[in-house]
Amino acid sequence: MKIIGTGSALPEKTVTNDDLAAFLDTSDEWIRPRTGIRSRRVISREKLDALAASAAQAALADAGLDASGVDFILCSNVCGEYMTPGLSCIIQGLIGASCPSLDINAACAGFVYALYTANAFMAASGYDRILIVCAEENSRLVDWADRSTCVLFGDAAAAAVVERSAGKPFFHLRTSSNLDSLFARYAPGNSPYAPDQPPRAFLSMQGSFVFKQAVSTMCGDIRAVLEKSGVSEAEVDLFLLHQANYRIIKTIIDRMGAPEDRFPHNIGNYGNTSSASVPLLLDELKRAGRINRGDKVVFSAFGAGLTSAACYMEWE
Ligand code: COA
Repeated sequence: MKIIGTGSALPEKTVTNDDLAAFLDTSDEWIRPRTGIRSRRVISREKLDALAASAAQAALADAGLDASGVDFILCSNVCGEYMTPGLSCIIQGLIGASCPSLDINAACAGFVYALYTANAFMAASGYDRILIVCAEENSRLVDWADRSTCVLFGDAAAAAVVERSAGKPFFHLRTSSNLDSLFARYAPGNSPYAPDQPPRAFLSMQGSFVFKQAVSTMCGDIRAVLEKSGVSEAEVDLFLLHQANYRIIKTIIDRMGAPEDRFPHNIGNYGNTSSASVPLLLDELKRAGRINRGDKVVFSAFGAGLTSAACYMEWE
């Protein structure tokens, strides 16, 4: 499998740390040193499905394809306007595709899970090209009165087209079930048979626990996937990590001992955009000419679940 096109789409509205301080007991001085985040994009008048379709169309154009050129659509999404249908079905209609589609929810690790799924589908089904779209409306998931979570997140959509090729990616996936440290809960239904359902919960997080888990899990996943591929840490050109907090990324850099410029980041501008963060970074780097044929690339992400995944591939 190889990635033959990328694209992204962001909401128009930029919200700075100072903008948040206007209605929350927080400050740029608190947020920036602890997270690296300066601003984030937040959906206001746009719709997530339209952003997702724009990102998909940009990735198709980058791959030199139209919607008829893909055999399957995989969408990674935690939260949007609709519970059902899945966002992948809405994207299919908006871009004018006719292939089947499927949603996955592996939280912030969703892009790497989608790469894994696409690779497996190609092997199992004969599909030649799969469109992956990661689209996240975190502004709908967080409590805007909770300064410990809402300052960390942003909204975004990013996409990649993958194609069957001789290149062999390596994966390492894991789930360590943990409900308390990171979760959000639907509003209760009105079933007369289940009167005691708990109330809706916006995103709730045990920040310092999640921080430590993210560092140790991502370091372990990266080492595991490199061991499978037979490539050493020193040989890797780019580590594209989930953009949750620059301090998490910096701690991983220090533990891995690799040069800092091999861990590009854009968290400062977008905050944590969940599963969209890795393909958004990938699209920026690709457009800036920072990824070249033959580069050894590692993707690694971590999220609610707790899920995590790493992928190694040589850039074709
Ligand atoms: N502004 C000001 N104060 C804030 C704040 C904010 N936005 N958010 C929390 N605080 C306060 C808390 O109320 C607490 O105050 P208290 O000590 O009086 O109770 C204090 O700051 C906590 O500060 P600290 O312990 O220094 O926070 P931290 O260094 O652990 O940083 C996070 C908090 C959330 C930035 C950090 O734990 C983190 O990034 N965790 C990982 C989160 C993540 O990436 N999740 C997604 C994974 S996919």
